[in-house]
Amino acid sequence: MLDKIKEHIAKVEAFSASTLEDVEAFRIKYSGRNGVVNDFMAEFRNVPNELKKDYGQVVNKLKTVALEKVNTLKEALEDTNDTASTINDLSRPGEPISIGARHPISIVKNQIIDIFSRIGFNVSEGPEIEDDWHNFTALNLPEYHPARDMQDTFFIQTNPDVLLRTHTSSVQVRYMENNKPPIRTISPGRVYRNEAISGRSHCFFHQVEGLYIDKDVSFADLKQTLQYFTTEMFGKSKIRLRPSYFPFTEPSAEVDVYWGLETETDYKMTKGTGWLEIMGCGMVDPNVLENCGIDSKEYSGFAFGMGIDRIALLLHQISDIRMLSENDIRFLEQFKSAL
Ligand code: PHE
Repeated sequence: MLDKIKEHIAKVEAFSASTLEDVEAFRIKYSGRNGVVNDFMAEFRNVPNELKKDYGQVVNKLKTVALEKVNTLKEALEDTNDTASTINDLSRPGEPISIGARHPISIVKNQIIDIFSRIGFNVSEGPEIEDDWHNFTALNLPEYHPARDMQDTFFIQTNPDVLLRTHTSSVQVRYMENNKPPIRTISPGRVYRNEAISGRSHCFFHQVEGLYIDKDVSFADLKQTLQYFTTEMFGKSKIRLRPSYFPFTEPSAEVDVYWGLETETDYKMTKGTGWLEIMGCGMVDPNVLENCGIDSKEYSGFAFGMGIDRIALLLHQISDIRMLSENDIRFLEQFKSAL
C-alpha cells in the first residue's frame, strides 16, 4: 500500500500540463472529493495500528505535493495567458510614458551655448569654490580695492583665500592661464553673492561669461558679436552700449537691448522705456591679460557676462526668482514642451 502511494507521489511530481483544463482535471483526480487522496484517507481506519503513523505521513505528503503541483501549474499558465493576450491585443491603449521637463535655467543656458557655439566659442567650466587670485586679484581687483564691495562674497570658514565664486570670470582666468590665444570661450555656471533673498534676487544664481582673445580684436568686434547674440536670442537687433565700469575691462559698458513697447508686458518689463539691460561687457584690461600670462602688446580681447536667471524670468514671464530653486513640480512641469 505504501509503495502504491509513493508511486502516486512520483507521478504527481512528474506531471505537467499545457492547459488550465488539464490542470483542473488533474486536481479533481487527486484532490477532488472522490479523488485519490481521499480514497487513501478513507483506507486509514483499515491500516494496522503499528503502520498508521507511516501511512498517515505518506498520505499527507501526497496531499501537499498534489496541491502544490496544481498551484504552480496554474500560476505559470495564467502568467503566459496574460502576456499572450496583452501582446496580441493591438487595440489596447498605450502605456503613457511620463516625460520630464528641462529646467528653465538649463533651457536658457543651452540656447546661449548653442548661439555662441555657432560662431566658434567653446564651453569652459571651473570650480564653484575658488581662491582669491582667480576670483579677484588676477582680475585687477587687488586687496582693499573698493570694487570688491560690489560683490558681497561668501567666504569659507575663516580663511579669506577660500570663497564661493561671485562670477564666472574666474573660469576665464583659469582658461587664459592654461590656453594660448586665439581664445573663444564661454563659461556658464552657478555663482554666489551674499544678498538678501527676495522675489528679484537670490544668494545664488547663474551666469554665462564670454571671452574672445586674438590679435587685433577691437570694440567693433565686441559690438558685432553682441548684436548677433541678441538677434539670435531675442529676435531683436537694436542694442545700445552705455559706458560703465568693471575693474577687469577698459573701456566697459552695459548692454541694453531694445525690446519695444508694443504690449502691456513690454511696458512692465522695460519700465516704460522699451530698453532692457541684459549684460556687462568691455575690452579685457591689459593688466588682466598679463596676470594670466598673455602678452598684452600682441593680443587684445573682449569679455562679456550675463545672468541666466534674469533672462529666464524675462523670457518665460516668471514673476519670482525663488521659483527657480524651489523644485515645485507644478512649476517645472510647465516647461515640458520647451527645448
Ligand atoms: N563679471 C561681471 C559680473 O559678474 C560681468 C562682466 C563680465 C562684465 C565680463 C564685463 C565683462 O558682474
